[in-house]
Amino acid sequence: MKVAAMEGNWQTDTGVPLLLFAIPDQAAQTNHFAIGIPNMASFILTHDWQGEVPGLNEVAPEMQPPVFLVFWSFRIMVAMGLLMVFFGLAGWVLRYRQRYHQSRWFLQSLRWMSLTPFIAVLAGWVVTEAGRAPWLIYEQMTHAEGLTPSLTGGMALFTLIGYVVVYSLVFSAGVYYLLKVFRGGLEKANQPHEQDEVERAKRPFSAAHASLEGEN
Ligand code: HEM
Repeated sequence: MKVAAMEGNWQTDTGVPLLLFAIPDQAAQTNHFAIGIPNMASFILTHDWQGEVPGLNEVAPEMQPPVFLVFWSFRIMVAMGLLMVFFGLAGWVLRYRQRYHQSRWFLQSLRWMSLTPFIAVLAGWVVTEAGRAPWLIYEQMTHAEGLTPSLTGGMALFTLIGYVVVYSLVFSAGVYYLLKVFRGGLEKANQPHEQDEVERAKRPFSAAHASLEGEN
């Protein structure tokens, strides 16, 4: 059912298209504004242009995953992957033409591309976890059955706040150091420190410290 949700495929059918865009409507058990490549989903999933692909109608609506969420998380992940491929190839071409370091659009876009792995990993995680709903263990235990009976809302909230606080601290420290490394710039970070050449491998943030020292 996960794949059916990723593909937005409501009915078991043959010659199923690969949907590029659609607005899945779970209540109506259908898609709106669907645009797809004819027969492509059948081909990818069964290696046969007319292959039969199971649809979400194989199970009762309450046993289906949240289709809109899975469908769009999957497309976001794949879009990030395609962007990575595009920039990888573009980088090759620019390098071949010796324009890699001069191409402003490319270098500026790479700054934004640094976000894409995070977005793709989060979207992929949503696909995996939401896509298996309502099952915690397939056909054995649902999410609802997996709830710890003695766990109160207050306890869950307390743990969540704990996670948010600890992660915020760790994450801001990481970002702070990364920005320091970035500000140091490539050349500065690569400058050999003759006296601590051997130590460097053990000190990944040495570039950040070097740039801090430079400021003071
Ligand atoms: C480019 C095309 C891509 C395709 C066709 C694709 C396909 C998939 C599929 C089918 C799943 C669900 C697996 C399952 O639940 O059984 C998945 C999960 C996932 N994907 Fe992608 N993916 C793509 C790109 C990416 C990229 C670029 C990243 C990260 C940089 C990524 C990260 C993940 C992660 C973290 C999961 C969750 C894995 C787990 O929790 O088990 N994916 N992907």
